[in-house]
Amino acid sequence: MSSDNPIAKDMRVLDSLLRENVAPHLREKALRDMRILNLACGQCDEAETLVKFAQEETPGEVQLIGADIRIREILQAREQHAKLPAEFLLEDATRLDAHKQIGDGFNMVLLRHQNFWHGPELWKKIFEQGLERTGDDGLLVITSYYDKEHRLALDALKDLGAELIETKHNLLARKLRKPGKFVDKHMAVLRRK
Ligand SMILES: C[S@@+](CC[C@H](N)C(=O)[O-])C[C@H]1O[C@@H](n2cnc3c(N)ncnc32)[C@H](O)[C@@H]1O
Repeated sequence: MSSDNPIAKDMRVLDSLLRENVAPHLREKALRDMRILNLACGQCDEAETLVKFAQEETPGEVQLIGADIRIREILQAREQHAKLPAEFLLEDATRLDAHKQIGDGFNMVLLRHQNFWHGPELWKKIFEQGLERTGDDGLLVITSYYDKEHRLALDALKDLGAELIETKHNLLARKLRKPGKFVDKHMAVLRRK
């Protein structure tokens, strides 16, 4: 990917967000291996960034599982990231309980560009399933395109019993066409209470 490519730039920004906002909380746990679950991952542009980040943060094995309800995105992710220690599953993230293959006890569950605004009830279920998949000391990380959507998602997560560790307004976020919409405009780190 060329370094001028907007997605490549987004990935550099995402990498900094992970290092500044997530890594310090993971380091507290002195993890040996790292398992990441990326729910509603789409085609998972961020797969390589996530794997590299995890490999640099832990001495042991890294595993990334991505899940999305759209087959086209999952097939794209599988093709694009075939060489990574990653698996991409066609899954309804509101019903992960029905799918034992995914497992639980993830060190980090990511919901990048969560879409709470477009279906609060659906996304509450996805958040609930994500929180359940975090291990005892795992983190749930969300990013948001919009200010308001971020606030609404954080309120919903708190109602579900999540504790906000920190939230960061990303001033380097790339502006998109729709008013107020930016790539990874906010990142929040939470955990189960
Ligand atoms: C705004 S997109 C974000 C995609 C990706 N995380 C990103 O940052 O580019 C929201 C994603 O949620 C997925 N999604 C919606 N409902 C879902 C469900 N019930 N289970 C799994 N994925 C779902 C959509 O297919 C879509 O890929």
